[in-house]
Amino acid sequence: MKHFSTADIGDFSKLYRLNMINSVTGYKSANLIGTKSNSGVENVAIFSSVTHLGSSPALLHFTLRPNTVPRDTYKNIRENQVFTVNHVSLKHIQEAHHTSAKYDEHISEFDQTLLEPEYRMDWHAPFVKGSPVALGCRYLNEYDIKENGCLLIVAAIEHIFIDDELLQEDGWVKLENGEVVAINGLDGYTLPQLKKRMEYARPKK
Ligand SMILES: Cc1cc2nc3c(=O)[nH]c(=O)nc-3n(C[C@H](O)[C@H](O)[C@H](O)COP(=O)(O)O)c2cc1C
Repeated sequence: MKHFSTADIGDFSKLYRLNMINSVTGYKSANLIGTKSNSGVENVAIFSSVTHLGSSPALLHFTLRPNTVPRDTYKNIRENQVFTVNHVSLKHIQEAHHTSAKYDEHISEFDQTLLEPEYRMDWHAPFVKGSPVALGCRYLNEYDIKENGCLLIVAAIEHIFIDDELLQEDGWVKLENGEVVAINGLDGYTLPQLKKRMEYARPKK
């Protein structure tokens, strides 16, 4: 087994460090965040940091890289507070990955990929057509991560859309039925296979 210390990590090339640190914490969720500016320009970008933050109230968070370059997702969310979170399914990985390309704020990634916007419930932000699970979210707060200049965004989940074949009787969402992918590092897309759902764990008698 290989071992790396803080000193070793510091000596890695930028790319090697980026690849390793993005992979070592495990698989991450793959989501497209959809937003729209007040002037009507749609935006969609891939994020691997969307995580639930508690179920009552229903909250999620995600992290934004430092605002050292223009961040359209952030700008749009601050303009009108709303965004959508759309799971990436296997059929969308090529297009989803391409949304990470840095386009000018006047250019919509919906026009540069085969991803299509879809409007639901009068929500200002576009959903991604064909995504098996999609959420309408409202910005609540942001926290500066002073260690590295990232921003942690906290949002309320106000609308949930789930394809019928994923939603189970007890509310659990079987992501496998939508071929929802996970992310390994920054550029590896993987299709997890469910092995077993477990009982609620209790101490042994
Ligand atoms: C697999 C993958 C995961 C990503 N996850 C994040 C993330 O969690 N936070 C972030 O700020 N950027 C993330 N990015 C980078 C954004 O997708 C990229 O900066 C994009 O251009 C942002 O678009 P925007 O400027 O329209 O907001 C990720 C990129 C890839 C390829």
